[in-house]
Amino acid sequence: MGIIETQEKIRKLLDNRNAILLAHYYQRDEIQDIADILGDSLALSVEAAETTADVIVFAGVRFMAESASILSPDKTVLLPRLDVGCPLADKITVKELQQAKVENPGAKVVTYVNSSAETKAHSDICCTSANAVRIVNSLEDAQTVLMVPDGNLARYTSQFTEKKIIPWRGFCYVHDNLSPGEVQRVKDENPGALFAAHPECRAEVLAMADFVGSTGGILKFARETDAKKIIVGTERGIMHQLKIQNPDKTFVPASGNMICVDMKRMTLNDILSSLLEMKHVIKVPEEIRVPANFALSRMLEASK
Ligand code: 13P
Ligand code: SF4
Repeated sequence: MGIIETQEKIRKLLDNRNAILLAHYYQRDEIQDIADILGDSLALSVEAAETTADVIVFAGVRFMAESASILSPDKTVLLPRLDVGCPLADKITVKELQQAKVENPGAKVVTYVNSSAETKAHSDICCTSANAVRIVNSLEDAQTVLMVPDGNLARYTSQFTEKKIIPWRGFCYVHDNLSPGEVQRVKDENPGALFAAHPECRAEVLAMADFVGSTGGILKFARETDAKKIIVGTERGIMHQLKIQNPDKTFVPASGNMICVDMKRMTLNDILSSLLEMKHVIKVPEEIRVPANFALSRMLEASK
């Protein structure tokens, strides 16, 4: 079956099942093109919490579908493939988090949504790359904040708060691998271009950026800037929307290696099978869901 035929079948099944397709900007172009909602992690969580659909099909990685299930336990949440994790989310275990809490008594735990449901369940509040600074500063009674699992996001956030931030040692290989040398080379090849980067990049790389933000933030920046050429320091899936939204601008990847293998594993055929067979249902056990929902819902409240 060709791409268009598969897309049409998926759209029909979505309608028949009162289902919506949520997709992240790092998904394949042909998946992005048929999504009901395309967004960054924050926008997708908001939609998952508010949708009136019966079924949520998640084109993203596992933590995103888990968050949807945590926020909307009465909906059927489908993840078309089960082998789509986020290596960053695996960079902390509950045991390690519990030990870090013992070592830092009084610290509040701010957990990046790129984490397991269990990690969220042991946190005070969640954050995304779009709201990390706001969330940390919303903790009025906290002097010290333990930010897990992404160390780069934690170090970036620490520049915009009076609170003491203790970064965990996790990182995203897609963003952490981008080196200042690579960025400088691309800058030299594209004089006058602005550089937009995701806060999961290293501090030395972020120091070279004209804009730092979530995927949604980078898209907004690209729409609003007068610059005609932008170097992009995040996963290359975002190029699709950057080009669609800004046909008069040029986008240059900061590196050819910024590819998230897990995000790219999902195909249109997986989504079609998922809807035909109503698989794979993601359900977080209540004893984990309830405390994880507290941390996620508190984040959504503080982001309003
Ligand atoms: P955003 O929340 O910026 O979309 O980021 C998600 C992600 O996985 C970044 O690597
Ligand atoms: Fe996880 Fe990095 Fe992939 Fe985002 S790009 S899903 S943080 S591995």
